[in-house]
Amino acid sequence: MLDKIKELIGEVQAFTTTSKDEIETFRIKYLGSKGVLRDLFAEFKNVPNEQKKEFGQTINLLKSSAEEKVTSLKEALENVTEENGVYGDLTRPSEPMELGARHPISIVKNKIVEVFSRIGFTVSEGPEIEDDWHNFTALNLPEYHPARDMQDTFFIEKNPDTLLRTHTSSVQVRYMEKNEPPIRTISPGRVFRNEDISARAHCIFHQIEGLYIDTDVSFADLKQTLLYFTKEMFGKSKIRLRPSYFPFTEPSAEVDIYWGLETETDYRITKGTGWLEIMGCGMVDPNVLKNCNIDPTKYSGYAFGMGIERIAMLLYQIPDIRMFYENDIRFLNQFKSVL
Ligand code: PHE
Repeated sequence: MLDKIKELIGEVQAFTTTSKDEIETFRIKYLGSKGVLRDLFAEFKNVPNEQKKEFGQTINLLKSSAEEKVTSLKEALENVTEENGVYGDLTRPSEPMELGARHPISIVKNKIVEVFSRIGFTVSEGPEIEDDWHNFTALNLPEYHPARDMQDTFFIEKNPDTLLRTHTSSVQVRYMEKNEPPIRTISPGRVFRNEDISARAHCIFHQIEGLYIDTDVSFADLKQTLLYFTKEMFGKSKIRLRPSYFPFTEPSAEVDIYWGLETETDYRITKGTGWLEIMGCGMVDPNVLKNCNIDPTKYSGYAFGMGIERIAMLLYQIPDIRMFYENDIRFLNQFKSVL
């Protein structure tokens, strides 16, 4: 009898399985209400007194071995299922991963940079916090010049004036101070103007300004460059230049492209004229060259500047400039397929 129990202990300890059902069958066989242990305990009363102690200890050992076995096998099974969940089927398609999207401002900026880099323009950058010289004075806007009011300025400090740049022309001044002609550079960046926020205007927006300086640069060169740009950027080849005024260029012009009336469903884009203003430009004023230590008798150049939001609104038919800064995921998600 005792030998039989010891044999059972051996069996119990050697038992192993990874099947839940088999563990349950094992449990019922040994620990169930009609199981081996119950029968053995029932036998107990027939065991002669002097053997009772050893017999009792051995049955208890069998019982605890069976219990331990059940718990350890169940635990092992749980761990295995967890691992299977993560690494189980390696041929399974992976979980879909959310892809980010580029911001429309970056998409348009990159495209403009790419178009100009093809004709030799490099990218230059400068600080957003500027001094009076680089934002105004060097650009032919001395103190008390009325044209300073064209761009309402956020001042940070007075005397000496520190301000948030109102245009990236300040980067061009820095570039001219440090580089000799020939110069071909575009300056993208964030600019700040103290304006009321509306669907068309914001106090923070982005610009790209271009600068070209060499010997014998003429207005015809400017026109040709603008034509190339509008063709590459919008696929439109009709532009017109309207006389305008900027303190740092002379002569100055506003560039319109002929957008046509096909997309003019609500007369909002071109107000029914078919023409759309996209940027300002002109021949760099000799005073500006002088301020930046470039000899105006030897060199001439052109400059242009445009708002990136404006171009993006045009390309993607975005009705409100505020959408660019709200980071509404439903808006941003729409640019996922654009590079
Ligand atoms: N700096 C001008 C602006 O911010 C744009 C411009 C740049 C105009 C270069 C002419 C030449 O409005």
